[in-house]
Amino acid sequence: MNLDAREEALVAVAREAGDLAKRLFSNPPEVKLKGRQDYITAADGELERLIIGRLKERFPGDAFLGEEGGAQGKGDAIWVIDPIDGTANFAHRMPHFCVSIAFMSEGELGLGAIAAPMYGELYRARAGRGAFLNDRPMKVAGVTDIKQAIVELGWSARRTVRAYTSLVERVLDAGAVFMRAGSGALGLAYVAAGRTHGYCELHINSWDTLAGLLMVREAGGWTNDFLDGAALEQGNPVLACAPGLKEALVAITGVGQANEKLERRMS
Ligand code: IPD
Repeated sequence: MNLDAREEALVAVAREAGDLAKRLFSNPPEVKLKGRQDYITAADGELERLIIGRLKERFPGDAFLGEEGGAQGKGDAIWVIDPIDGTANFAHRMPHFCVSIAFMSEGELGLGAIAAPMYGELYRARAGRGAFLNDRPMKVAGVTDIKQAIVELGWSARRTVRAYTSLVERVLDAGAVFMRAGSGALGLAYVAAGRTHGYCELHINSWDTLAGLLMVREAGGWTNDFLDGAALEQGNPVLACAPGLKEALVAITGVGQANEKLERRMS
């Protein structure tokens, strides 16, 4: 498996897709609703076609899983793509969105890139080789006191309102503060960059999560075993945080209580 060539192609296509997303953002987007509070714009399809097209030219034997187009090809080497994460923000002309692309081989995350074009930020990570924000190494925050923590709590209509408000309540009761900015991928990248201290969502899809999860791990953070079970196709709960908050956040959120499989693979 040539990860060098894939890493180079990944960074180039994330940058190109980010630039295109920025150009498309300046025109009023064509928006449709896929479900309750679940948006799609014409830009999502255009970007996904661009990303898959570029990667297919270089790696025709790889498989692809895109948020909009679903699965293409079969095999152990797979690219997982969210052409616009934070689509609701994009649709409402808010700059907090990104392009997120991950590469996995034999069930393990190898590469991730997230382009946040309106902020001029490109995040990337490679397994065992660290995580970077615009070429500066990223490191998670050293916070250990939950009362000083900022935790992003992602929301989607895939879980009940009750489950979400109860999670918010538990986080606030513990003395942390919560935020919700509307992009799971950027939420995870912010944990990796040490800007926030945790990201939790009771259900999230793999295309929103995988690149950011690798970044958190490579920046020294802790994550639950998101890929357990059928997460690639069906999603799972996610928790990623600064290592000093792991115990508190696992107890508060209930996510990651049985994480043995991942911890064995990572040790
Ligand atoms: C959504 C965003 C949101 C998260 C949802 C995702 P999309 O993805 O990442 O922050 O809470 O679970 O579905 O629709 O913007 O690609």
